Amino acid sequence: MTTLITGGAGYIGSITTRAIRASGRAVVVLDTLENGHRKAVGDAPFVQADVADADAVRRTVEEHGVDEVVHFAAYKAVGESMANPGKYFANNVTGSQRLFETLRSCGVDRVVFSSTAAVYGTPARVPVRESDPTDCESVYAETKLMIEKTLGWYARTSTMRSVCLRYFNAAGASDDATLGEDWRFSENLVPHVMKAVLGHSPALKVFGNDYPTPDGTGVRDYIHVEDLASAHIAALDHLASGGASVTCNVGTGQGTSVLEIIAATERISGRKVPHQIVARRAGDVSEVWADSSLVRDLFGWEPRRHLDDIISSAYAWHSGRPGGHRG
Ligand code: UD1
Repeated sequence: MTTLITGGAGYIGSITTRAIRASGRAVVVLDTLENGHRKAVGDAPFVQADVADADAVRRTVEEHGVDEVVHFAAYKAVGESMANPGKYFANNVTGSQRLFETLRSCGVDRVVFSSTAAVYGTPARVPVRESDPTDCESVYAETKLMIEKTLGWYARTSTMRSVCLRYFNAAGASDDATLGEDWRFSENLVPHVMKAVLGHSPALKVFGNDYPTPDGTGVRDYIHVEDLASAHIAALDHLASGGASVTCNVGTGQGTSVLEIIAATERISGRKVPHQIVARRAGDVSEVWADSSLVRDLFGWEPRRHLDDIISSAYAWHSGRPGGHRG
């Protein structure tokens, strides 16, 4: 079995690539390296190309005997998507559509797609279920939902089947702390906490402490990136054994506040996290966490790591490589 992994040189992609190889599959990674790192791919077969490049995708599928695909490649900066929507629609939506068309013409009809909990926008209730309404609040989220819908139509009109995984807040580094996030390209909380605790920024900005949550700071469902990786393998197995198309939340079902992340980091590192409370960030919701019962029931997948594993792996990774993969 050979798995094509688009965007396999990125943060979640590279850790998932390694997990898929460890599960006994052959892989080939396709990535433009615009935001990914060649080093993160290691000795896995690698093709530097865009998913929209039909010739490169077709050649890769034929040369490597690709049976199935995990599709990560996409732009993911929420703010940039609002400033430059065309860039996101072209790359994420049109690029994915071209990829699916090429795959279809090559007879590859199993796709696992990296979607996001951002498709729910401000949820009417927590935990959020897959059947709850979607209400995208950014172009980025809308592009992910459009790709989900595109896959839905391929499933209705062809033999293509897909699993769309709606990630909650992916965080942490690989268990051996050799692969992780590059904080220079991230607006997310955990890399910023690490930057502050390691003295690479003056202070973490806590975006608001007046939310209607127990300690007033935002609450999210942080899922360890290695657990997220194992959900992709479960999804590939589901499709390989003839399972139907489905869209699943992937989270832990537990909410953690910004102050709880800071406290865990101080406990694990033995250092203070310098921080200051600033105004709320535009577009942030107060609290969101997943109902992950569907992915548990369908795939038998369970998160095996806890918040402390997220913080300790991120701390180990960032302590060793303050400049990320290029540092
Ligand atoms: C963000 C994106 C979401 C995307 C996800 C991917 C927005 C509005 N949402 O989710 O679309 O799918 O990343 O990981 O950008 N915080 C601070 N200080 C910081 C950074 C964050 O206090 O420097 C707080 C935020 O206010 C929030 C929590 O930490 O309460 C998590 O923030 P973040 O890691 O950016 O994730 P989301 O906003 O949930």
